[in-house]
Amino acid sequence: MPHRHLIAGNWKMNGVKASLAVAEAIAAQSRSHSARVALFPPATLLPLMADVLKGTDIILGGQDCHHADSGAYTGDISAAMLKDAGASMVILGHSERRHGHLEPCALVARKVQAALRAGLEPIICIGETLDQRQGGLTIPVLSRQLADSLPDELADRPFQVSYEPVWAIGTGLIASDAQILEAFALIRRYLDQRFGAHVAPHLLYGGSVKASNAGQVLALEGVSGALVGGASLTVEDFMPIIAAADIAPV
Ligand code: PGA
Repeated sequence: MPHRHLIAGNWKMNGVKASLAVAEAIAAQSRSHSARVALFPPATLLPLMADVLKGTDIILGGQDCHHADSGAYTGDISAAMLKDAGASMVILGHSERRHGHLEPCALVARKVQAALRAGLEPIICIGETLDQRQGGLTIPVLSRQLADSLPDELADRPFQVSYEPVWAIGTGLIASDAQILEAFALIRRYLDQRFGAHVAPHLLYGGSVKASNAGQVLALEGVSGALVGGASLTVEDFMPIIAAADIAPV
């Protein structure tokens, strides 16, 4: 198991230059807390934020990358470009990419390979929709996403997996403790069987994490971090989540 929680803030399509002040304040205030903190701003802010965060412990990451290293792909961003802009992590397979951009698991796996080639540490997201949960399909859906989105190259590389029930993202609904524990046990078992027990990525939970529930989520067995969307956009909302990791055991 990792020794410190990873608290990751995914800004999604939010943030302009003025938002760099938020990153600066998060970096300053995080120093007194135990968690590793990562910020995933829109790509337009990456180089500027890298400058702002220089000399701090905050990890910088991209929100997606293309599966190819370079080429004629209008509007896309390669993993190497993220790296060049100052990123060391990248979120892949987020439900807003899987559903909003119709990205299948096989494409997510190719993006993970591209991220590894560029030396980025991927956070790979999986999660079931409400229909799938209500249809009793949660376990098969998560199992398939794990099998098809994680390439073999991960065996000897650092990576993270984030369980994000689609119905909990941006809705204010959070999965119950039992639902999170069931999903995490499945993920842990799968990773042990496929890659060996020595592979110990952070397992994050994402979906409506906020100050009022972060302590409870982070204290759950096997949860070693959180991927936070809406509540990572302001210092007031994000800092209590970072602070919640101080008291929760990893
Ligand atoms: P949310 O988003 O915290 O706004 O629900 C989580 C995510 O999409 O990672």
